[in-house]
Amino acid sequence: KVEPLKPLVVKEPEVEVDDGKQKVTIFFGTQTGTAEGFAKALADEARARYDKAIFKVVDIDDYADEEDEYEEKLKKENIVFFFLATYGDGEPTDNAARFYKWFTEKEGGEWLQKLKYGVFGLGNRQYEHFNKIAKVVDEILANQGAKRLVPVGLGDDDQCIEDDFSAWRELVWPELDNLLRDDDDPTTVSTPYTAAISEYRVVFYDNADASMGEKSWGNANGHAVYDAQHPCRSNVAVRKELHTPSSDRSCTHLEFDIAGTGLTYETGDHVGVYCENLSETVEEALSLLGLSPDTYFSLHTDKEDGTPLGKSTLPPTFPPCSLRTALTKYADLLSSPKKSALLALAAHASDPTEADRLRHLASPAGKDEYAQWIVASQRSLLEVMSEFPSAKPPLGVFFAAIVPRLQPRYYSISSSPRVAPSRIHVTCALVYEKTPTGRVHKGLCSTWMKNSLPMEKSNDCSWAPIFVRQSNFKLPADAKVPIIMIGPGTGLAPFRGFLQERFALKEAGTELGPSLLFFGCRNRKMDYIYEDELNNFVQSGALSQLIVAFSREGPIKEYVQHKMMEKSWDIWNMLSEGAYLYVCGDAKGMARDVHRTLHTIVQEQGSLDSSKAESMVKNLQMTGRYLRDVW
Ligand code: 2AM
Repeated sequence: KVEPLKPLVVKEPEVEVDDGKQKVTIFFGTQTGTAEGFAKALADEARARYDKAIFKVVDIDDYADEEDEYEEKLKKENIVFFFLATYGDGEPTDNAARFYKWFTEKEGGEWLQKLKYGVFGLGNRQYEHFNKIAKVVDEILANQGAKRLVPVGLGDDDQCIEDDFSAWRELVWPELDNLLRDDDDPTTVSTPYTAAISEYRVVFYDNADASMGEKSWGNANGHAVYDAQHPCRSNVAVRKELHTPSSDRSCTHLEFDIAGTGLTYETGDHVGVYCENLSETVEEALSLLGLSPDTYFSLHTDKEDGTPLGKSTLPPTFPPCSLRTALTKYADLLSSPKKSALLALAAHASDPTEADRLRHLASPAGKDEYAQWIVASQRSLLEVMSEFPSAKPPLGVFFAAIVPRLQPRYYSISSSPRVAPSRIHVTCALVYEKTPTGRVHKGLCSTWMKNSLPMEKSNDCSWAPIFVRQSNFKLPADAKVPIIMIGPGTGLAPFRGFLQERFALKEAGTELGPSLLFFGCRNRKMDYIYEDELNNFVQSGALSQLIVAFSREGPIKEYVQHKMMEKSWDIWNMLSEGAYLYVCGDAKGMARDVHRTLHTIVQEQGSLDSSKAESMVKNLQMTGRYLRDVW
């Protein structure tokens, strides 16, 4: 009924290399597109400032096919910038993983003495490994002889990452002025640059043409490799509520059917799920834009004569469709608007007071108000638009500069292909919370999952475009190696997969090492998810010991880390015998507390001082024996 999701990638305009011009290469390692957007924004502004240089924006994965080639090409570079995001537990983005591995493992030597560089990182201060990837690359570049032009930029997505980028960029210009400005030529003196608002060229269709267009995009299935750009359409086979009716929360067990699709996964991988906005959200957006849901259109990054529009910082386009479809499938309407979005809204506000206030919020003088009124209040784009009703941006501006693309949501897969080869299981807690403005925030994907219609109930079942992202959260290759798993709440998900795998191995006659699982929930009568299955794993010998912390049964809270302390001696012994330790779940609270507890256990049981204990825990991490899948 709706066309498959297939975003098109906006191509950088090809630049001609002129020998007389200096070349600057701007690399990006991006997961959701922000790093790529910053890289392109830097290039755009630099092109406007320095016409005596050539700026090339490069996906770091596309730079070289082989490792030796990285080295050869980097040696020839003169000025480079890196935009590198850190995600998960201090990991590089998928497209930077190959470069990062090569670069961090490369033997020393000052082989980059010719190079001048700057690094900007994208991360979130709430996480332990804040901007690790950028910091590490910055450090290695310096160690290998390259000249650091500006301090590493530490973009913090928890606050306003655009401000961090702007501040860092201001440090870049004086350096580039020195390097790229031609002293004889007064016209190259840098002038203040104000970014123009980006905009697509929009083509409107009458309904008949456009519905043909929607069909002709075909089915994304049939693609050889599935990834975020080429997801696989997959039906919901099973949906179950895991909490009992006495719980005031909800957690969904969902199974995607992947039979016959060619999509495969491994135990411990993640599944990316594309979701749709609720119709109530779409209706609100339609009324704020003042446009008909049956407006059929397509977005273009070139002029009618085929030449590029000039701006390269546009987000990916999507297939021609109706406005209702575009708002449902491609528009992130509920995140807080970026400052650049406020400026674009201001440019299309017919009421000058509204335009002024929007510009103020996006200005340095409005920094605190923006932080309070937008970020801390979690005001959504739609909420902001409803406060500025005179702002009616045209579609080309709305999709280019105001609303970001809806991103896939990632879940730790809770099954093993050894037990469920044609299914991907997901365990998903419902996100349903009041924001400071009183808006009820309904998690997009978790609400969709909770309300989805499974194959077993209806032939017209729910489906979603999905894809698998590999992870390094894997069982030891040797099943005899002991394992310790810590996963309260939905942190249990990957361990259910692990235990299914161990169960299958045992059935096939493989000898298993000892295993401990620490699970935590509020109350055994409410949210003890998969209780019967866990008991069966113990009975079958797939799991040696199940230890559960109930946080809201007795007079005092019991958490997994308290149970870990009670089992200090066992944990220490298992670690001494080479055990792997896995933690999955909430990064900001639980994983941090569990990390501290592990440190205490190592210190007490090993009679070590604090720094020795720390280096032992670090060593576990470095050797891949302490793995975390945290969010
Ligand atoms: P609570 O809701 O009673 O605080 C799964 O969500 C379980 O993790 C719940 O029992 C929850 O307890 C518990 N939990 C909350 N914060 C935690 C933390 N910092 N460390 C460990 N467990 C935590």
